[in-house]
Amino acid sequence: MDVDRVLPLSPEDLHVPDAAPVRLRLVVLVSGSGTNLQALLDACADPAYPAEVVAVGADRDSILALERAATAGVPTFVLRVADFATREEWDTAFADAAGSFDPDLVVSAGFMKLAGAAFLDRFAGRYVNTHPALLPSFPGMHGAADALDYGVKVTGCTLFVVDAGVDTGPILAQAVIDVRDGDDVESLHERIKTAERELLVDVVSRMARDGWTVTGRKASIP
Ligand code: GRF
Repeated sequence: MDVDRVLPLSPEDLHVPDAAPVRLRLVVLVSGSGTNLQALLDACADPAYPAEVVAVGADRDSILALERAATAGVPTFVLRVADFATREEWDTAFADAAGSFDPDLVVSAGFMKLAGAAFLDRFAGRYVNTHPALLPSFPGMHGAADALDYGVKVTGCTLFVVDAGVDTGPILAQAVIDVRDGDDVESLHERIKTAERELLVDVVSRMARDGWTVTGRKASIP
């Protein structure tokens, strides 16, 4: 994946007289409790934060994350794989739904589906995911549990640009936390999630302010 300089905000855009500052448009994808979404919503409530959540997308109904979006007055869309004849049709419809909100950046925050080719093509270089482990260690659905089972002494979280693999994309940022004696999966995952929320809010803000590049395996924010 090579994406030459993604710079969503030009300096000129940021200094238009008598106009509201341009903010990075985020579509956030969720499947569960949505605490990462909430962290972004809280950050975006500050007019000085350089991004806004323009929509929240989900692959299932009746989740707390959708309630958080509704409470914040953010539009939502829900498309269930089971309602489509094929996974490809779902993927295209999901990409169209997200694309209809014209996002600069799509953030997978606890979204439990792998995007397919249509989605990845459409949002190449601007679809990021937060994962609860230090990739490339412990990819997949159980990052915290797998780290605990393995017996590592540190773990953490990774924000990366999504590619066609499972948690294999170019890494934007990571944060490290200690694994403590006596940790269980719940206590460890909760501490990871605290670090994840801080990292997500910080990195999205830096991406909005400074842009980002993806060249081969290297993702960077100038
Ligand atoms: C996060 O740890 C995320 O990395 C993982 O699922 C968790 C989602 O938490 N894939 P929440 O829904 O944001 O509270």
